[in-house]
Amino acid sequence: MINIGVLASGRGTNLQAIIKAVEEGIIEGEISIVISDNRDAFALKRAKQNNIKTEYLNFKSFKDREDYDKEIIKTMKKKKVDLVVLAGYMRILSPFFINAYKNKIMNIHPALLPSFPGLHAQRQAVEYGVKISGCTVHFVDEGVDSGPIILQKAVEVKDNDTEESLAERILKEEHQIYPQAIQLFSQGRLIIKGRKVFIEEVDLK
Ligand code: GRF
Repeated sequence: MINIGVLASGRGTNLQAIIKAVEEGIIEGEISIVISDNRDAFALKRAKQNNIKTEYLNFKSFKDREDYDKEIIKTMKKKKVDLVVLAGYMRILSPFFINAYKNKIMNIHPALLPSFPGLHAQRQAVEYGVKISGCTVHFVDEGVDSGPIILQKAVEVKDNDTEESLAERILKEEHQIYPQAIQLFSQGRLIIKGRKVFIEEVDLK
């Protein structure tokens, strides 16, 4: 059983998918804390509705990013968090945070990395004219959306797609692969070698 700490800034649909996977026993663990930098994040409401502990931390009350991250780490340590899950978290983590949870921080990005990193990935894909985009779950390193890739799912881009319509179809796939990736982590099946992640097969004997 792993303890999961979630960082979220917004509506929290990925958090909801993860809550469901925990409830269904797909993820072998529990969500110990949901922390947000946004007091009004709907993600906090979702957590509370599911009796999950929450914490709001106002960035403005801290000296700098590292100072802020140290406060998050303090809570994560108190909750004995094994895996930090970024679910629509809009802040870049400090190197201090990344080192404290090396290879134990996951993120989901709404494009097939390394294409279209950063903000508005779905808009970038539509504007570029790619025929296929999708989503990526990856471990977080010090770069932006650059860490080792765990799972990806492709989504077709249609001629009449807008940023919104593409985002909606990608989101459905996000809700599948994010819980899957966390499940694999909870089963101890993710093996990182350099920038590659290998998934250990289960022995069904
Ligand atoms: C998702 O599109 C995710 O890929 C990106 O932020 C969005 C979060 O959505 N990192 P939600 O808050 O989980 O609904």
